[in-house]
Amino acid sequence: MGPRRTRVLPIGTGDPAADEAAIREAADVIRRGGLVAFPTETVYGLGADATNPDAVRAIFEAKGRPATNPVIVHGDDIRMLHTAVRAWPGTAARLAQRFWPGPLTLVLPRSELVPDEVTAGLDTVGVRVPDHDVARRLAREAGRPIAAPSANRSTGVSPTTAAHVLKDLDGRLDVILDAGPTHVGIESTVLDLTAAPPRVLRPGAITAGQIGRVLEVGIEDAMAPTRAPGSGAPLTSPGQMELHYAPKARVFLAEPEQLCRQPRTFPWKIALIVAGRRVGIEPGVYDEVAMWDEPRVAERELYATLHRFDEVGVRRIDVVLPPIQSDAWRAIRDRLWRASRRWDQEGR
Ligand code: TXA
Ligand code: MG
Repeated sequence: MGPRRTRVLPIGTGDPAADEAAIREAADVIRRGGLVAFPTETVYGLGADATNPDAVRAIFEAKGRPATNPVIVHGDDIRMLHTAVRAWPGTAARLAQRFWPGPLTLVLPRSELVPDEVTAGLDTVGVRVPDHDVARRLAREAGRPIAAPSANRSTGVSPTTAAHVLKDLDGRLDVILDAGPTHVGIESTVLDLTAAPPRVLRPGAITAGQIGRVLEVGIEDAMAPTRAPGSGAPLTSPGQMELHYAPKARVFLAEPEQLCRQPRTFPWKIALIVAGRRVGIEPGVYDEVAMWDEPRVAERELYATLHRFDEVGVRRIDVVLPPIQSDAWRAIRDRLWRASRRWDQEGR
């Protein structure tokens, strides 16, 4: 497929008629089989008509995403998503009632409406109702569910602004709906409801603890860092590739006592990320520092921070991970750990 002309349509600028026109235009592109990036509460998604196999294939092409990694289906409400699934168990009803619209994806048996391209050939589909007016209006106006992964090149850092999307995918999609930065900032929690007990396949802002309290069962947490690095244990979700969310800089996991103490003598920039812990550092050693002691803030800022480090030319990022026991820090730990997989491995 040849290059596309990518148009950025601002939305939420205070002119309801302009918003309406932008949504209508984007919905038209979706109906004609095109690609539209749109904001959700988590990250920007790269959307296509979930019922159109060619349109969904174009998502994979634009991202350079392996065909084995399924994408999430977004609806404007539960009713639209009922058409995408064959079963709607009581567990789904309770979780939807409590957490939708919101950052929770439910994996359920798929209906015939959903093509193989969406599910990577699996018999299940991940569905969610996003907590963002623009995302829901787009699906409503298009009149069909929207398949959308995060709007970044495969394995890269997810986008939380329209500028991040443009940087990665300019010329590879038709329209970007720009409604400013997203407010949750990391991807939805993915929960497999076809497993007993239900299993978290990807940790997100909604924690296993919160889900367990609603369902009154213990939730299995299949998150990779709970197993030993390099143990070669099988992947738990087709998309749970170890290398993910990786910036251009080399990312290394460090204990506080391993951090740099001396001003650097080399000509390139280094950065430090500390999450969920307090670490004393020497001033002037790191060129850029992000230190978070609140998980919600870390989630909102993580990807913009990684994008910024790349932009200012940071070549190495040292990361002090949050404590492994903390449910609230699970998602951040997962993302930082994956970001380090290209470099921080035994034998490299
Ligand atoms: O917050 C989010 O979830 C964002 C916004 C755009 O909604 N979307 C997103 O999509 O992060 P993506 O494609 O980057 O990640 C989807 C994740 C992958 O880990 C994928 O493997 C998993 O969901 N997934 C999707 N369908 C699945 C299925 N049927 N079974 C197991 N895992 C599934
Ligand atoms: Mg993604």
